[in-house]
Amino acid sequence: MQSGKALLNQISQAFYGADIKYQTITGKSIKRIYLDSAASCLMLKPAFLASTQYLPHYANTHSEIHNSAIVSNQMYDWAKQTVLAFVKADPKQYSCVFIGSGATGGINRCAQIMANIRPNKTTALVSLMEHHSNDLPHRKYNKKVEHIECEDSGINLGSVCIKDLEQKLIKHQGQVNYVAITGASNVTGILNPIKKISEISHQHNALVIVDGSQMLAHAPISLTRSQNDPTSADIDALVFSGHKMYAPGSPGVLIIKTKLLEQSQPNQMGGGIVSQVSKGHFDLIDDLQAREEAGTPNIFGAVNLAMSLNVLNRITMTEIAHHESELLKYLFTELSKIDGLSIYANQDLAKYPRTATFSFNLAGIDHALLAAILNDYFNIAVRNECFCAHPYVRELIIDQLWELDPDLPSEQIEAKKGMVRASFGLNNTITDAIELVNALTQIVQNPTKYTAEYELTQSQGYQHKTKQTDWRSLFCPDQMLNQLLSQQTDPQHS
Ligand SMILES: Cc1ncc(COP(=O)(O)O)c(C=O)c1O
Repeated sequence: MQSGKALLNQISQAFYGADIKYQTITGKSIKRIYLDSAASCLMLKPAFLASTQYLPHYANTHSEIHNSAIVSNQMYDWAKQTVLAFVKADPKQYSCVFIGSGATGGINRCAQIMANIRPNKTTALVSLMEHHSNDLPHRKYNKKVEHIECEDSGINLGSVCIKDLEQKLIKHQGQVNYVAITGASNVTGILNPIKKISEISHQHNALVIVDGSQMLAHAPISLTRSQNDPTSADIDALVFSGHKMYAPGSPGVLIIKTKLLEQSQPNQMGGGIVSQVSKGHFDLIDDLQAREEAGTPNIFGAVNLAMSLNVLNRITMTEIAHHESELLKYLFTELSKIDGLSIYANQDLAKYPRTATFSFNLAGIDHALLAAILNDYFNIAVRNECFCAHPYVRELIIDQLWELDPDLPSEQIEAKKGMVRASFGLNNTITDAIELVNALTQIVQNPTKYTAEYELTQSQGYQHKTKQTDWRSLFCPDQMLNQLLSQQTDPQHS
């Protein structure tokens, strides 16, 4: 077997879309650079292809006797074991539930479980950094939600402030049901000290939910308690999105201490979770994981996710974290040379380690316009706006809004706040980082060359005056089906 490092060095080409080309405004067809992994990752080809090899055996996991059903049930169990092993969670202590299409379903369910089993504790603490999916569900299931501040301030915000966490736990002593914290920010990539956060929260009898959506594909984590392992943390529930683990189409994942599930009743009722049903009565099955998954699960997606985690394990998360930190060091050094470019949150990587996700703005160019220019002229795919993290983005940007646009009327702050986010993953190499730096340098050198070509339309934001993209010219489902179906009937292809 190849070493993790050797595998890492060649993996960037092993993604669907790694070599996709689109035409730029200037008519050149060039390779797309995908810097939007924080939203959704590209599909890891070997993992997907291995999963398709299972497809001949595909069957519903609620069937049991025939051979395909046996393989499918085993594969589904294997997927769960692989997920638990990936985060070093002891299967005797933790359960793995596949739920929804991303982390949102798992976080909602987790908030509901914790509210149900500890009804006398009516406060939840979340951090300022959270994605709305790890904030709003807690507002729904708790009487009170307070936001823990971050270290430092304004554009220099750091990770979650431990002192503020402690103060809030003391202020609401006995009332805090749980602390819900992101492992890494989806805006700035800053990693939170989850080991410390868990220790302190538990000292105050608060449970801990970690939103691993932006962390698990980028940094190691271990749910096995160890004083010496800095990546280990005693977490009560860990949630993440399969589509952010290079397995689009896979389910969301909730890993939760089994003792918490034992005290809980299923949320959804239906097939697969009952042993006995009469007109007036039903018995739930004993399997606590399966009880959480009424109806047919996303079996293929779960298998694909486990295949992907298997590949990440072979590379090792330590290698991946190192790769990302090298990319980030290069980017921060080079981007700091670009006039008017601001990167958000504290850039002291020794103090506040990050994944290779960061957000920025260029003075004088609206974030939406900059994202459009990067796409239209340079084929660089980035995300812009507030990334479903409005409170955090507001705090990061507020002091600086007038620097970016001195004419900005104060009533337009809410509408104008926003950033451009570049998020790197295993599909990216240093070449992509260099391309981003080059593109931004070119834009800064002659901004009007680009900005003058756009009109602000009411519905679409910034629209290039000459650009017309018909998505069907890039991908047409009917045409693709025609082609594949004709191959089915053409004896030459059979
Ligand atoms: C930190 C974080 N938490 C939660 C979510 C929600 O994940 P999903 O949309 O997959 O449910 C996201 C999505 O971007 C995220 O970045």
